[in-house]
Amino acid sequence: MNQKLIEHIKSNFKSRFKTNPTLVFSPGRINLIGGHTDYNNGFVLPAAIDKGIVAAIDKSDSEYSSVVALDVNEQLDFSLKNIQAIKNGNWKNYVIGGVAEIQKFGKQLENFNLVFGGDIANGAGLSSSAALENSVVFGLNELFQLGLSKKEMIFISQKAEHNYVGVKCGIMDQYASMFGKDDSAILLDCRNLEATTFNIDFKDYKVLLINTNVKHSLAESAYNDRRSVCEKIALQLNINALRAASEKDLFTIKNKIPEDDYQKALYVTQENDRVLQASKAIKHNDIELLGKLLYASHKGLQHQYKVSCDELDFLVDYAKKNTDVVGARMMGGGFGGCTINIVKKDAIKAYKKDVAQAYKENFNANCSFYVVNLSAGTRVIETN
Ligand code: GLA
Repeated sequence: MNQKLIEHIKSNFKSRFKTNPTLVFSPGRINLIGGHTDYNNGFVLPAAIDKGIVAAIDKSDSEYSSVVALDVNEQLDFSLKNIQAIKNGNWKNYVIGGVAEIQKFGKQLENFNLVFGGDIANGAGLSSSAALENSVVFGLNELFQLGLSKKEMIFISQKAEHNYVGVKCGIMDQYASMFGKDDSAILLDCRNLEATTFNIDFKDYKVLLINTNVKHSLAESAYNDRRSVCEKIALQLNINALRAASEKDLFTIKNKIPEDDYQKALYVTQENDRVLQASKAIKHNDIELLGKLLYASHKGLQHQYKVSCDELDFLVDYAKKNTDVVGARMMGGGFGGCTINIVKKDAIKAYKKDVAQAYKENFNANCSFYVVNLSAGTRVIETN
């Protein structure tokens, strides 16, 4: 964890609000494989990381609540009564969404002060949004002893995003951020939240994240569109969610739906299968197979599900040319953010240099890198 960040948040809170806060850390996440399968009740293989959001929180005796986003130096003062989404509110909607959804759950809140900041870039596909939602909900649960379970909290966080941000996200990000385990990835069945923890030891390899540093504007609407295509096809097949569809089932309606939609549904079915294969590969320490599955996942996301972009495709194609990289794919919602790469440890430095140069030449822009460790989920790091 980033000690400097923790101190920074804490001292800022103290000088602003003059009380001793409780500190919460809520991590971002990676996802080894299982892109866009979560809202289809499918499988994913995410892990929480050692980077995320630190939130300092304490009760307030003023007439309103105050939240400060230190990274952008903005403050929101709001009343707990009658909370509405804020137009172009960005981070503010994640926060007030969490507050409002706790209230809708039937829990009573009093005014509070909160200061937060983080060490993952917004839009990197590392789920700073779920980390923020979880930090707020978890922090409020601690502060007011609301008695919410972790499962209740992640559904509250997810609803905040659905109803106040407007992204109909699945449950993976909130789950991984809340329930992460040190050095482990989690095979999560999004149908019932059954989870199997995999201790990850890639031995000679490491996970390298490469951020395109772009976030294309269609990201949010395209995400919701994909979800509704999947739901429409599930309805047509008379099933709850695409998770329950086999390739054979899909084939029975192939001629009744647009080819584009068919390919999207087919992708989901195939990706679910890849997640299960990947978890077996990890169990058997078969990094080569894991890598191949990552490449296949990207191909599906690019050509069938169509949520990639030039920058992400470039980084994955570049990885394919280098034998020190066993696998790579885009991660998260798409249209920007990071690729996840499994790279030989002793080649990481040279690879970073090569990629940085090639990316610059191609896009006249810089990509950036994160080497991450897999970490525990949302937790209190200091009580007041
Ligand atoms: C975003 C969403 C998740 C998931 C991924 C794609 O991160 O928040 O629920 O759907 O995209 O796998």
